[in-house]
Amino acid sequence: MDFFIKSGSPEKQRCACVVVGVYEMRRLSCAAKQLDKVSDGYLSTLLHQGNIEGKIGQILFLQQIKGVLSKRVLLIGCGKEHELNEASYQEIIKKTIQTLNENGTLEAICFLSELPIKERNNYWAIRQGIEKTKDTLYVFDKFKNKKNHKKQILRKLTFIITDRSQLKMANLAVAHGNAISLGIKTCKDLANLPANICTPLYLAEQAQQLANQYPKINTTILNNQALKELKMYSYLAVAQGSINSAYLALIHYEGTNKTQKPIVLIGKGITFDSGGLSLKRSSAMLGMKYDMAGAAAVLGTLQAIASLNLPINVIGILACAENMPASNAYRPGDILTTMSGQTVEVLDTDAEGRLVLCDVLTYAERFKPDCVIDIATLTGACISALGHNISALLTPHDGLAHQLLKASKQAVDKAWQLPMDDEYQKLLESSCADMTNLGGNAAGTITAACFLSRFTAKYTWAHLDIAGTACSPNDPSNGATGRPVALLTQFLINRSDYQP
Ligand code: BES
Ligand code: MN
Ligand code: ZN
Repeated sequence: MDFFIKSGSPEKQRCACVVVGVYEMRRLSCAAKQLDKVSDGYLSTLLHQGNIEGKIGQILFLQQIKGVLSKRVLLIGCGKEHELNEASYQEIIKKTIQTLNENGTLEAICFLSELPIKERNNYWAIRQGIEKTKDTLYVFDKFKNKKNHKKQILRKLTFIITDRSQLKMANLAVAHGNAISLGIKTCKDLANLPANICTPLYLAEQAQQLANQYPKINTTILNNQALKELKMYSYLAVAQGSINSAYLALIHYEGTNKTQKPIVLIGKGITFDSGGLSLKRSSAMLGMKYDMAGAAAVLGTLQAIASLNLPINVIGILACAENMPASNAYRPGDILTTMSGQTVEVLDTDAEGRLVLCDVLTYAERFKPDCVIDIATLTGACISALGHNISALLTPHDGLAHQLLKASKQAVDKAWQLPMDDEYQKLLESSCADMTNLGGNAAGTITAACFLSRFTAKYTWAHLDIAGTACSPNDPSNGATGRPVALLTQFLINRSDYQP
């Protein structure tokens, strides 16, 4: 699907369909006013007759309007003029795309990008228009023999800018929108794969694929033996109960001078989380193929920045493993020695994410990172705290928190910071080791982050818990959201012209 930018008036577009907005109370948007004028008030007449009220998402297809070159015009309701905000804009775009696609429209010219949106500019409207379009048209039907052939008919969408002076801004919006959408699609496709196909090796190999596609990316894969030599005994303990052994994929993106410190992104890549011997009940186990969504998001983000050629150095690390019960699985009560030398008493083999991540966090020290961000479907408690639309951000570093929250706002990929005061650290005390892997019943998202923080003393670090946001709650098999690729890519876009 291709996106274009153009300026011009709506009646002069020669295209299968022109999309313009109408507001409630029979108010016309700028483009609709123009069509009304050339058609001697045809649109106002329709509005007065009550054919469309202008409520959000209402639609009306018009054909062969006098003075209009396009065969069809799609009127779309935009709600109250002064209330148009980012959420309603997204809803309007979604409805528009569904309508165009269902009606078999091949190409359209969209005047919605001109609408004034509360606290947002035209750059945002175009970029979000692209991201929402791709999101709306996404299907995961790789394994269906009988594909729905009507699935994507819309091939070309042009967004309108009011004048040529906006062209540079609009082209940037298209570049960013395309790159982020590409990263999101990669992330969704990978996260939606079932665990019998997406094994730790398969996941790591996707990082290799990325290196084949982009010249600035180099990938190295570490196997079981290499992880042993590094003394990643905590990571390996999680993997030992599975026939599919662990792999660590290192994705180096070198977008600028080697002297610039890299930003390291670490993704939890548990391709299936059965809980291990602390086995999950079956309803909780369903959906645990998504426990590698953090790794998928890191991969998608690397793809997005590589396709943008961002002048920045980034290292993506995918920590791939499977958490299974077996006679050789690690057990509750086991004491593990992490790569850092700190020991952990395992109280629950289902708290495996932190055991994998802690060794990778130690490993990240060797890159002398500018900062490290880990992304993980880490705790069910995160869903209790924030639900399915907001990711949790935990970090002791206010500067980094500020930058990530700013990126989150810009990219409309919501995140909320949770506290990680020292008092929570006490909940990890163990009588026989340096810490336990379980913080008790309270504040599970915070105690998990506190556990990770013990391995991050040497650099600036933040943790994103995406347990609630990585997949949609209503669709256990097809519901990957591609989050937080948009947030992370935005953060890296900002950092790439960041002058401290
Ligand atoms: N992968 C899960 C967290 C999770 C739960 C993600 C639900 C998405 C949806 C994680 O490994 C886990 O099992 N966490 C435990 C931790 C507990 C044993 C301390 C949990 O949240 O129950
Ligand atoms: Mn678990
Ligand atoms: Zn898990």
